[in-house]
Amino acid sequence: MGAIRISGVTKSFGEFQALSSISLEVAQGEFVTLLGPSGCGKTTLLKIISGFIEPTDGQIEIGGENVTRLPPEQRDTALCFQSYALFPHLTVRENLEFGLRQKKLGRDEIASRVRDVSTKLELAAQMDKLPNQLSGGQQQRVSLGRALVMRPSVILFDEPLSNLDAKLRDQVRIEIRRIQKDYDLTAIYVTHDQAEALAMSDRVVVLNQGRAEQIDTPERLYAAPATSFVADFIGSANVMEGTVLSADGAGLCTVETPIGVLEAKDAGVPPGAIRRLSWRPEKAQIGEPGLTATVTHRAFQGHFTDLTVDTGGTLYRVQTGRDDIREGDGITFALRPADIVFLEAVG
Ligand SMILES: Nc1ncnc2c1ncn2[C@@H]1O[C@H](COP(=O)(O)OP(=O)(O)O)[C@@H](O)[C@H]1O
Ligand SMILES: [Mg+2]
Repeated sequence: MGAIRISGVTKSFGEFQALSSISLEVAQGEFVTLLGPSGCGKTTLLKIISGFIEPTDGQIEIGGENVTRLPPEQRDTALCFQSYALFPHLTVRENLEFGLRQKKLGRDEIASRVRDVSTKLELAAQMDKLPNQLSGGQQQRVSLGRALVMRPSVILFDEPLSNLDAKLRDQVRIEIRRIQKDYDLTAIYVTHDQAEALAMSDRVVVLNQGRAEQIDTPERLYAAPATSFVADFIGSANVMEGTVLSADGAGLCTVETPIGVLEAKDAGVPPGAIRRLSWRPEKAQIGEPGLTATVTHRAFQGHFTDLTVDTGGTLYRVQTGRDDIREGDGITFALRPADIVFLEAVG
């Protein structure tokens, strides 16, 4: 019903190419997030899926139907924005009824859908209030409710949590996921917040300057980023260049890097090739012999400490559960072969 197929979607605004040949299939009931920095094309892609913008090239199918040229109201999609998109002069009830009245549904049908959604979202006691009489979380639930009353099979979210404070954001994102599963909706969710994307999604599309850099599960994106952009954007990995020296034929290879010669898992990269490599700050085995560094900055975070370390002129981030390491201290650390990830070729 709500499966989506995006094929080769491109969008130009004059000379500027906002999206370059995006292809993506989203299964019925799946929750997929478009993640990337401001200006990378997230909203443009969402608007193309919902029909508010026509693509320059490519095709959108929803539930097996080619909807590329259909107007938004003829698509089985609903959009949910930040809560300030509510009508300020209408009550909660009127906000929820608005889209249904525009669709000219009968009184009873409207009343029954609004009752159902307001119960599910625990808004029944707020129905006669104006949006500015509600808390931020309640406003966000009304915004979600306004999309849900339309009974779409696809729900699209454009940074819905960005004006909520951190604690509320965590609550509302759990709620969004619960409702999406309850109604078995196919969801496409837009955010620039990598933690939100990792926490909520079945799969994530990492967008960079209108291109999809990687489409994968949160776990795979974190453990096996395909490019230095993904490695850095998700969990801010350390990225460095390395020249493959030799492979031992038994699954390991040696790589010359700015921090020394390291052993890595053999990824089939031929000797002499120069590649970018990444490793996660928390993978540094601090106290193990191998690499030496000086701590230049320390930030205590509670259950771990973030350290910036200088290894002969280059700075890297490491994390440790130890709280006894201070700025100026010399440390040793090691990286395990499996924790070094090969990224794109250099040059
Ligand atoms: N109507 C438009 N005309 C010209 N450029 C646009 C238009 N809409 C968006 N853009 C440009 O396309 C790029 C992507 O925008 P957008 O999809 O809104 O990014 P995001 O939602 O990821 O922040 C931006 O550089 C933006 O300036
Ligand atoms: Mg946007």
